[in-house]
Amino acid sequence: MDALFGDDLLERPRREVAPGAVWVPGFLDPTQQAWLVARFREWAEGPVPPRAAKVRGHEMSVKTVCLGWHWRPYAYTREAVDVNGREVLDVPDWMVRLGRSAIAAAYGDDPGEWSETLRLEGDYTPDTALVNFYDEAARMGMHQDRDEVSRAPVVSLSIGDSCTFRFGNTETRNKPYEDLVLESGDLFVFGGPSRLAYHAVTRMHPGTAPPGCGLEAGRINITLRETGLDG
Ligand code: SIN
Ligand code: MN
Repeated sequence: MDALFGDDLLERPRREVAPGAVWVPGFLDPTQQAWLVARFREWAEGPVPPRAAKVRGHEMSVKTVCLGWHWRPYAYTREAVDVNGREVLDVPDWMVRLGRSAIAAAYGDDPGEWSETLRLEGDYTPDTALVNFYDEAARMGMHQDRDEVSRAPVVSLSIGDSCTFRFGNTETRNKPYEDLVLESGDLFVFGGPSRLAYHAVTRMHPGTAPPGCGLEAGRINITLRETGLDG
């Protein structure tokens, strides 16, 4: 049976791209994808609308709406001080559970050899979600996610159009890196030795959103993180 239903027969099997960085294609089914898109539309209604964050004076091409903590480059605050000053929505309980099932899908129910390096203190409990919307021209340059105090894994979910995702190393924004195509429903988790790896979205693939995912065009990316902040 293993041979019949083993990962090796899947077109896009789960794969460890770098130590602690795991790609799980097709983690979300189409119903879950469409449900998350509907939630995104609610979050976009406010209290804080999606906005293009400014990095060193330049607007990002991606628009972001945050839950739990509001992210702006180099800082997390409860109020969206660079948008309208309103407090962001809470991270819903179902999202914490989704984060835990993502961690289990990536590392296994019993991370064993991983547990030392993943910096999980108890169950994974993301206290922020950054929800990004990419139109067909949007991209995100090579960067590290290092505004969090916690080094627990980052859980990343993709819905809608595919994109080319570049996953690199922790030392430089240059090679070695690998380019992957993240499709609607894919999960990518990076923790442990890859927690501070540089990564980027180098381009979108317009027209690839599958029917039934809830988005006709564009891409939604949800990243869950533990900030390690109090208050
Ligand atoms: C991010 O690096 O914060 C987003 C990555 C993605 O959109 O897949
Ligand atoms: Mn990032």
